[in-house]
Amino acid sequence: MVGTTVDEQTEMHSQATVVPPRLEVAEDRRGAVEDFDQLPSEISVRDLDFFYGKEQALFGNSIEIKKNRVTAVIGPSGCGKSTHIRAYNRIFNLYRDQKAKGEILFDGANILSSQIDLLDLRRRIGMIFQKPSPFPMTVFDNVAYGLRQHYRMSRSDLSNRVEDALKRSAIWDEVEHKLNEPGNALSGGQQQRLCIARAIAAEPDVLLMDEPCSAIDPVGTAKIEELILALKNKYTIVLVTHNMQQAARVSDYTAFFFQGRIVEFGPTTKIFSNPAEKQTEEYITGRFG
Ligand SMILES: Nc1ncnc2c1ncn2[C@@H]1O[C@H](COP(=O)(O)OP(=O)(O)O)[C@@H](O)[C@H]1O
Ligand SMILES: [Mg+2]
Repeated sequence: MVGTTVDEQTEMHSQATVVPPRLEVAEDRRGAVEDFDQLPSEISVRDLDFFYGKEQALFGNSIEIKKNRVTAVIGPSGCGKSTHIRAYNRIFNLYRDQKAKGEILFDGANILSSQIDLLDLRRRIGMIFQKPSPFPMTVFDNVAYGLRQHYRMSRSDLSNRVEDALKRSAIWDEVEHKLNEPGNALSGGQQQRLCIARAIAAEPDVLLMDEPCSAIDPVGTAKIEELILALKNKYTIVLVTHNMQQAARVSDYTAFFFQGRIVEFGPTTKIFSNPAEKQTEEYITGRFG
Protein backbone atom coordinates (compact mmCIF):
# COMPACT_ATOMS: atom_id res chain seq x y z
CA MET A 1 0.00 0.00 0.00
CA VAL A 2 1.42 3.35 -1.04
CA GLY A 3 1.69 6.27 1.37
CA THR A 4 -0.35 4.98 4.32
CA THR A 5 -0.85 7.57 7.00
CA VAL A 6 -0.22 6.98 10.68
CA ASP A 7 -4.01 6.92 11.11
CA GLU A 8 -4.40 4.10 8.66
CA GLN A 9 -1.55 2.14 10.18
CA THR A 10 -3.02 2.41 13.66
CA GLU A 11 -6.31 1.28 12.24
CA MET A 12 -4.91 -1.99 11.00
CA HIS A 13 -3.98 -2.88 14.57
CA SER A 14 -7.34 -1.85 15.92
CA GLN A 15 -9.13 -4.15 13.48
CA ALA A 16 -8.08 -7.11 15.63
CA THR A 17 -10.96 -6.34 18.01
CA VAL A 18 -13.27 -9.34 18.43
CA VAL A 19 -16.85 -8.66 17.38
CA PRO A 20 -19.46 -10.34 19.59
CA PRO A 21 -22.25 -11.97 17.58
CA ARG A 22 -25.27 -10.31 19.21
CA LEU A 23 -26.04 -6.65 19.08
CA GLU A 24 -28.49 -4.62 21.05
CA VAL A 25 -29.95 -1.77 19.04
CA ALA A 26 -31.29 1.07 21.13
CA GLU A 27 -35.02 1.49 20.57
CA ASP A 28 -34.94 5.24 20.15
CA ARG A 29 -32.91 5.34 16.94
CA ARG A 30 -34.80 7.77 14.75
CA GLY A 31 -34.18 5.77 11.60
CA ALA A 32 -36.56 3.14 12.96
CA VAL A 33 -39.63 5.33 12.88
CA GLU A 34 -39.28 8.12 10.35
CA ASP A 35 -39.81 8.42 6.61
CA PHE A 36 -36.31 8.57 5.11
CA ASP A 37 -37.43 10.09 1.81
CA GLN A 38 -39.15 12.99 3.57
CA LEU A 39 -36.01 14.05 5.45
CA PRO A 40 -33.76 16.75 4.03
CA SER A 41 -30.36 15.50 2.84
CA GLU A 42 -27.25 17.32 3.98
CA ILE A 43 -25.02 15.51 1.50
CA SER A 44 -26.04 13.51 -1.58
CA VAL A 45 -23.38 11.25 -3.02
CA ARG A 46 -23.99 10.07 -6.58
CA ASP A 47 -21.85 7.46 -8.29
CA LEU A 48 -18.66 8.25 -6.46
CA ASP A 49 -15.57 6.45 -7.75
CA PHE A 50 -12.19 6.94 -6.13
CA PHE A 51 -8.70 6.20 -7.40
CA TYR A 52 -5.28 5.89 -5.75
CA GLY A 53 -3.19 6.28 -8.89
CA LYS A 54 -4.54 3.55 -11.17
CA GLU A 55 -5.96 1.52 -8.29
CA GLN A 56 -9.73 2.01 -7.91
CA ALA A 57 -10.82 2.00 -4.24
CA LEU A 58 -14.49 3.09 -4.47
CA PHE A 59 -17.03 1.93 -7.05
CA GLY A 60 -20.27 3.81 -7.74
CA ASN A 61 -21.00 4.84 -4.15
CA SER A 62 -24.39 6.55 -3.84
CA ILE A 63 -25.82 7.57 -0.50
CA GLU A 64 -28.00 10.25 1.08
CA ILE A 65 -26.62 11.66 4.34
CA LYS A 66 -29.58 13.11 6.24
CA LYS A 67 -29.42 16.39 8.13
CA ASN A 68 -29.15 16.15 11.93
CA ARG A 69 -28.79 12.41 11.87
CA VAL A 70 -25.89 10.11 12.68
CA THR A 71 -24.94 7.92 9.74
CA ALA A 72 -22.60 5.05 10.58
CA VAL A 73 -20.19 3.64 8.02
CA ILE A 74 -19.18 0.05 8.76
CA GLY A 75 -17.34 -2.75 7.00
CA PRO A 76 -14.13 -4.76 7.16
CA SER A 77 -10.69 -3.16 7.14
CA GLY A 78 -9.72 -1.87 3.71
CA CYS A 79 -13.30 -1.73 2.34
CA GLY A 80 -13.09 2.02 1.69
CA LYS A 81 -14.72 3.64 4.72
CA SER A 82 -12.00 6.25 5.24
CA THR A 83 -11.58 6.83 1.52
CA HIS A 84 -15.33 7.48 1.22
CA ILE A 85 -15.63 10.05 3.98
CA ARG A 86 -12.33 11.74 3.08
CA ALA A 87 -13.93 12.62 -0.24
CA TYR A 88 -16.52 14.79 1.51
CA ASN A 89 -14.05 17.49 2.49
CA ARG A 90 -11.56 16.92 -0.33
CA ILE A 91 -8.80 16.16 2.14
CA PHE A 92 -7.45 13.72 -0.48
CA ASN A 93 -6.44 16.72 -2.57
CA LEU A 94 -3.37 16.92 -0.37
CA TYR A 95 -2.06 13.98 -2.42
CA ARG A 96 -1.38 14.43 -6.08
CA ASP A 97 -2.27 10.94 -7.36
CA GLN A 98 -5.64 10.66 -5.59
CA LYS A 99 -8.76 11.37 -7.61
CA ALA A 100 -12.53 11.28 -7.09
CA LYS A 101 -15.17 11.05 -9.84
CA GLY A 102 -18.90 11.47 -9.55
CA GLU A 103 -20.94 13.97 -7.56
CA ILE A 104 -21.04 14.96 -3.93
CA LEU A 105 -23.82 17.53 -3.57
CA PHE A 106 -23.64 19.79 -0.55
CA ASP A 107 -25.60 23.01 -0.17
CA GLY A 108 -26.56 23.05 -3.82
CA ALA A 109 -23.09 22.54 -5.29
CA ASN A 110 -20.96 19.59 -6.34
CA ILE A 111 -18.03 19.79 -3.95
CA LEU A 112 -15.89 17.81 -6.40
CA SER A 113 -16.03 20.71 -8.86
CA SER A 114 -12.99 22.92 -9.19
CA GLN A 115 -14.81 26.12 -8.14
CA ILE A 116 -15.15 25.05 -4.52
CA ASP A 117 -13.31 27.06 -1.86
CA LEU A 118 -11.50 24.30 0.01
CA LEU A 119 -10.82 26.31 3.17
CA ASP A 120 -14.52 27.10 3.50
CA LEU A 121 -15.51 23.51 2.63
CA ARG A 122 -13.27 22.15 5.40
CA ARG A 123 -14.71 24.61 7.90
CA ARG A 124 -18.23 23.51 7.02
CA ILE A 125 -17.36 19.81 6.88
CA GLY A 126 -15.05 19.25 9.84
CA MET A 127 -13.08 16.09 10.47
CA ILE A 128 -12.13 14.16 13.59
CA PHE A 129 -9.38 11.60 13.07
CA GLN A 130 -8.80 8.23 14.65
CA LYS A 131 -5.77 9.24 16.62
CA PRO A 132 -6.56 12.33 18.73
CA SER A 133 -4.44 15.00 17.11
CA PRO A 134 -4.39 18.23 19.11
CA PHE A 135 -2.02 20.80 17.68
CA PRO A 136 1.19 21.39 19.69
CA MET A 137 -0.26 24.38 21.53
CA THR A 138 -2.37 25.14 24.58
CA VAL A 139 -5.92 23.88 25.13
CA PHE A 140 -7.21 27.41 24.51
CA ASP A 141 -5.19 27.94 21.34
CA ASN A 142 -6.26 24.59 19.93
CA VAL A 143 -9.88 25.72 19.94
CA ALA A 144 -9.06 29.33 19.02
CA TYR A 145 -7.03 28.12 16.04
CA GLY A 146 -10.03 27.37 13.85
CA LEU A 147 -11.70 30.60 14.86
CA ARG A 148 -8.67 32.73 14.10
CA GLN A 149 -8.33 31.03 10.74
CA HIS A 150 -11.89 31.74 9.68
CA TYR A 151 -13.12 34.77 11.61
CA ARG A 152 -11.87 38.11 12.84
CA MET A 153 -13.00 38.84 16.38
CA SER A 154 -12.09 40.64 19.57
CA ARG A 155 -10.22 38.89 22.40
CA SER A 156 -13.30 38.68 24.58
CA ASP A 157 -15.43 37.30 21.73
CA LEU A 158 -12.70 34.78 21.09
CA SER A 159 -12.65 33.59 24.70
CA ASN A 160 -16.43 33.34 24.77
CA ARG A 161 -16.46 31.26 21.61
CA VAL A 162 -13.70 28.98 22.93
CA GLU A 163 -15.58 28.46 26.19
CA ASP A 164 -18.81 27.77 24.31
CA ALA A 165 -17.15 25.20 22.02
CA LEU A 166 -15.56 23.45 25.01
CA LYS A 167 -18.91 23.37 26.79
CA ARG A 168 -20.68 21.98 23.77
CA SER A 169 -17.97 19.31 23.53
CA ALA A 170 -18.62 18.24 27.13
CA ILE A 171 -15.07 18.94 28.24
CA TRP A 172 -15.24 22.43 29.77
CA ASP A 173 -15.50 21.20 33.37
CA GLU A 174 -12.37 19.11 32.90
CA VAL A 175 -10.20 21.79 31.26
CA GLU A 176 -11.52 25.05 32.69
CA HIS A 177 -8.38 25.35 34.83
CA LYS A 178 -6.03 23.96 32.19
CA LEU A 179 -6.66 26.36 29.33
CA ASN A 180 -3.02 27.38 29.22
CA GLU A 181 -1.64 23.87 29.44
CA PRO A 182 -0.59 21.93 26.34
CA GLY A 183 -3.48 20.16 24.60
CA ASN A 184 -1.50 16.97 24.29
CA ALA A 185 -1.07 16.73 28.07
CA LEU A 186 -4.74 15.74 28.38
CA SER A 187 -5.94 12.11 28.43
CA GLY A 188 -6.72 10.46 25.09
CA GLY A 189 -10.47 10.82 25.54
CA GLN A 190 -10.10 14.47 26.54
CA GLN A 191 -7.83 15.13 23.56
CA GLN A 192 -10.47 13.71 21.25
CA ARG A 193 -13.17 15.94 22.76
CA LEU A 194 -10.75 18.87 22.44
CA CYS A 195 -10.44 18.07 18.73
CA ILE A 196 -14.23 17.98 18.49
CA ALA A 197 -14.30 21.40 20.19
CA ARG A 198 -11.74 22.69 17.69
CA ALA A 199 -13.93 21.50 14.82
CA ILE A 200 -17.22 22.84 16.18
CA ALA A 201 -15.78 26.22 17.14
CA ALA A 202 -15.64 26.99 13.41
CA GLU A 203 -19.45 26.44 13.17
CA PRO A 204 -19.47 23.52 10.74
CA ASP A 205 -22.58 21.84 9.32
CA VAL A 206 -21.14 18.35 9.19
CA LEU A 207 -18.72 16.40 11.38
CA LEU A 208 -16.90 13.47 9.83
CA MET A 209 -15.52 11.11 12.45
CA ASP A 210 -13.13 8.37 11.37
CA GLU A 211 -13.07 5.75 14.14
CA PRO A 212 -12.90 8.49 16.80
CA CYS A 213 -12.91 6.05 19.73
CA SER A 214 -10.59 3.32 18.57
CA ALA A 215 -7.64 4.77 20.49
CA ILE A 216 -9.71 5.71 23.56
CA ASP A 217 -10.45 3.75 26.77
CA PRO A 218 -14.04 2.59 27.53
CA VAL A 219 -14.88 5.51 29.85
CA GLY A 220 -13.62 8.04 27.31
CA THR A 221 -15.51 6.18 24.58
CA ALA A 222 -18.79 6.35 26.51
CA LYS A 223 -18.35 10.12 26.90
CA ILE A 224 -17.71 10.57 23.19
CA GLU A 225 -20.74 8.46 22.27
CA GLU A 226 -22.90 10.54 24.60
CA LEU A 227 -21.47 13.67 23.01
CA ILE A 228 -22.25 12.40 19.50
CA LEU A 229 -25.89 11.90 20.50
CA ALA A 230 -26.03 15.46 21.89
CA LEU A 231 -24.29 16.99 18.86
CA LYS A 232 -26.64 15.54 16.28
CA ASN A 233 -29.29 18.06 17.25
CA LYS A 234 -27.08 20.72 15.75
CA TYR A 235 -24.83 18.90 13.29
CA THR A 236 -24.96 16.14 10.73
CA ILE A 237 -22.57 13.38 11.72
CA VAL A 238 -20.93 10.66 9.67
CA LEU A 239 -19.26 8.11 11.92
CA VAL A 240 -16.87 5.45 10.65
CA THR A 241 -16.59 2.67 13.18
CA HIS A 242 -15.44 -0.93 13.31
CA ASN A 243 -17.27 -1.27 16.63
CA MET A 244 -20.71 -2.51 15.74
CA GLN A 245 -22.18 -1.98 19.17
CA GLN A 246 -21.14 1.64 18.78
CA ALA A 247 -22.88 1.91 15.40
CA ALA A 248 -25.98 0.32 16.94
CA ARG A 249 -25.88 2.62 19.97
CA VAL A 250 -25.41 5.98 18.32
CA SER A 251 -26.43 5.90 14.67
CA ASP A 252 -29.78 6.37 12.97
CA TYR A 253 -28.68 5.00 9.61
CA THR A 254 -25.95 2.58 8.69
CA ALA A 255 -24.08 1.93 5.47
CA PHE A 256 -22.26 -1.38 5.07
CA PHE A 257 -19.26 -1.19 2.76
CA PHE A 258 -17.49 -4.13 1.19
CA GLN A 259 -14.65 -3.97 -1.32
CA GLY A 260 -15.29 -0.35 -2.19
CA ARG A 261 -19.03 -0.77 -2.72
CA ILE A 262 -21.99 0.17 -0.58
CA VAL A 263 -23.63 -3.21 -0.20
CA GLU A 264 -26.50 -2.07 1.99
CA PHE A 265 -27.75 1.17 3.49
CA GLY A 266 -30.76 1.70 5.72
CA PRO A 267 -32.06 2.38 9.21
CA THR A 268 -29.60 1.08 11.79
CA THR A 269 -32.33 -0.98 13.45
CA LYS A 270 -33.00 -2.77 10.15
CA ILE A 271 -29.35 -3.30 9.21
CA PHE A 272 -28.61 -4.88 12.58
CA SER A 273 -31.80 -6.88 13.06
CA ASN A 274 -32.91 -7.84 9.59
CA PRO A 275 -30.34 -7.05 6.88
CA ALA A 276 -31.37 -7.68 3.28
CA GLU A 277 -27.97 -8.84 2.08
CA LYS A 278 -26.15 -12.00 3.08
CA GLN A 279 -22.78 -10.18 3.20
CA THR A 280 -24.17 -7.66 5.67
CA GLU A 281 -25.50 -10.40 7.89
CA GLU A 282 -22.20 -12.29 7.81
CA TYR A 283 -20.33 -9.16 8.78
CA ILE A 284 -22.59 -8.03 11.61
CA THR A 285 -22.69 -11.51 13.10
CA GLY A 286 -18.90 -11.55 13.14
CA ARG A 287 -18.33 -14.20 10.53
CA PHE A 288 -15.75 -12.05 8.77
CA GLY A 289 -14.13 -8.68 9.16
N1 LIG B 1 -2.75 6.17 0.34
C1 LIG B 1 -3.17 5.08 -0.30
N2 LIG B 1 -2.56 4.65 -1.43
C2 LIG B 1 -3.01 3.56 -2.10
N3 LIG B 1 -4.05 2.81 -1.71
C3 LIG B 1 -4.67 3.18 -0.58
C4 LIG B 1 -4.27 4.32 0.19
N4 LIG B 1 -5.08 4.44 1.27
C5 LIG B 1 -5.95 3.41 1.16
N5 LIG B 1 -5.71 2.65 0.06
C6 LIG B 1 -6.45 1.46 -0.38
O1 LIG B 1 -7.82 1.80 -0.58
C7 LIG B 1 -8.66 0.79 -0.07
C8 LIG B 1 -9.61 1.38 0.97
O2 LIG B 1 -8.85 1.81 2.10
P1 LIG B 1 -9.49 2.61 3.32
O3 LIG B 1 -10.41 3.62 2.79
O4 LIG B 1 -8.37 3.06 4.18
O5 LIG B 1 -10.32 1.44 4.04
P2 LIG B 1 -10.97 1.40 5.50
O6 LIG B 1 -10.98 2.77 6.05
O7 LIG B 1 -12.32 0.81 5.27
O8 LIG B 1 -10.11 0.46 6.30
C9 LIG B 1 -7.75 -0.31 0.47
O9 LIG B 1 -7.59 -1.28 -0.50
C10 LIG B 1 -6.46 0.41 0.72
O10 LIG B 1 -5.39 -0.47 0.56
MG1 LIG C 1 -10.14 3.63 7.75
